[in-house]
Amino acid sequence: MSTADTRWWRDAAIYQIYPRSFADHNGDGVGDLAGVRARLGYLRDLGVDAIWFSPWFPSPMADAGYDVADYRDIDPAFGTLDEATALIGEAHALGIRIIIDVVPNHTSVAHAWFQRALVDPSYRDRFWFRDGRGDLPPNDWGSIFGGPAWTQVADGQWYLHMFDAGQPDFNWDNPIVREEFEDILRFWFDRGVDGIRIDSAAMVAKDPALPDFDPASPPDPHPWNDRDEIHDIYRAWRRVADSYPGGRALIGEVWLADPHRFAQYLRPDELHAAFNFDFLGCPWDGKALRRCVDETLDAHAAVGAPATWVLSNHDVTRHVTRYGRAETGFEHHLRQTRHLAPTDLALGTRRARAAALLTLALPGSVYVYQGEELGLPEVEDLPAAARQDPIFARTGGADPGRDGCRVPLPWSSPPAAPGWLPQPAGWAAYTVERQSSDPSSMLSLYRRALAVRRAEPGLGDGPMAWLDAPADVLAFTREGGFACVVNLSQTPAPLPPGTVLLASGPLDGDLLPPDTSVWLRL
Ligand code: NOJ
Repeated sequence: MSTADTRWWRDAAIYQIYPRSFADHNGDGVGDLAGVRARLGYLRDLGVDAIWFSPWFPSPMADAGYDVADYRDIDPAFGTLDEATALIGEAHALGIRIIIDVVPNHTSVAHAWFQRALVDPSYRDRFWFRDGRGDLPPNDWGSIFGGPAWTQVADGQWYLHMFDAGQPDFNWDNPIVREEFEDILRFWFDRGVDGIRIDSAAMVAKDPALPDFDPASPPDPHPWNDRDEIHDIYRAWRRVADSYPGGRALIGEVWLADPHRFAQYLRPDELHAAFNFDFLGCPWDGKALRRCVDETLDAHAAVGAPATWVLSNHDVTRHVTRYGRAETGFEHHLRQTRHLAPTDLALGTRRARAAALLTLALPGSVYVYQGEELGLPEVEDLPAAARQDPIFARTGGADPGRDGCRVPLPWSSPPAAPGWLPQPAGWAAYTVERQSSDPSSMLSLYRRALAVRRAEPGLGDGPMAWLDAPADVLAFTREGGFACVVNLSQTPAPLPPGTVLLASGPLDGDLLPPDTSVWLRL
């Protein structure tokens, strides 16, 4: 890791660790920081440039840590602040940067401010406490996790929570909240953290009138999403990040329908990057993917920001499973109808291999969600009693929620200790142990692809140009004579002349089989 490289976030390969499920060192079934420290060599060998940690703070775990009780400490189930500080140093020594999740939209009911607000009215303005309308909540907003967005407290007032009842929303109109978060950023930047992933970044500002939801209103802006005043908040955060030598990176979780409103978060004095959910949700379809790539690059070029490419994360159905179904795209509200849909995992895996080479060749930075490098499928048959995602409970079990992509990683078989979610028996075939020695495994493909990506000067940040190609074949070049060709059609496709650097599957002479990608030196 070069400290002189202050633009690393423009083309980094960033690995997402979901701490509960990455590596369990003390055998209690829950992943921990000691487990991560023991596996840093695995991540170095995989070839990633940075790790993003989903929340590691003390939490009652109403939403697996996205309900933060104390933003300046580590949950005892994961370890201690000293261990986190040691981990940051050890990762840096291996050339790996550290990004942590910060959750500004909401906190936990266990947070000291909320506990105080329950008994001290002067603290209520840090949240959205309101009187109800008779016996009804103050407005008609629904929680994103199902059920109402309001919960009543003992004295009759209600508080707003856009997610679980255990996650009260902060009132960002209150300057005390703004100052507190700038201080939290400094707390972690002072401990060597290189960047922040901002949870629910577009939801932080609310219309203070808290009007009823108008179904005729456009998707964004919205009374609780993408309001114009939000940009001042992130400009202030950028000033904090820029006050550190070399700067620190701010990466937003911004789900918006409009690519131009999305790009406004990436203006030069705001966030450095944001997750590309259009790409994540895009079906496995040549025209749709090409349109998505073009729109992404246009929107980012307008503000000078690097694009990001994301296939999976801890909130969505794993893409091996999605790509093996008739409907290959992802939308949260369709999770429930697509759950347990017929799935051809061999097809999904072939497409996931091809998608890996596509994402790693596109301009910008790329995210790898833990287990993606092992080709893990979604675990769809978890017993109801094991499910912990609040979405499952809040929808009365109608929506299976997100536990199926959060099953602990299979390092070896059988697992050293049973995890907090059970691993399917079939995962013996997916272990790191087994895949490490198999040159045809998904893990070997990711290792080789990340190594080539690092060595190729034209990959990462920089221009790309489309090549003429048959329908449903994506072919593009990067500088230095590098080309990527992805065959999304049903028939083998001719390849441009060149030397094969890497292929996601066997080639058919000089033809590229369906659902296969190749990297070439032209
Ligand atoms: C987005 C996070 O990725 C998700 O896991 C969480 O439940 C919500 N924000 C609420 O924090």
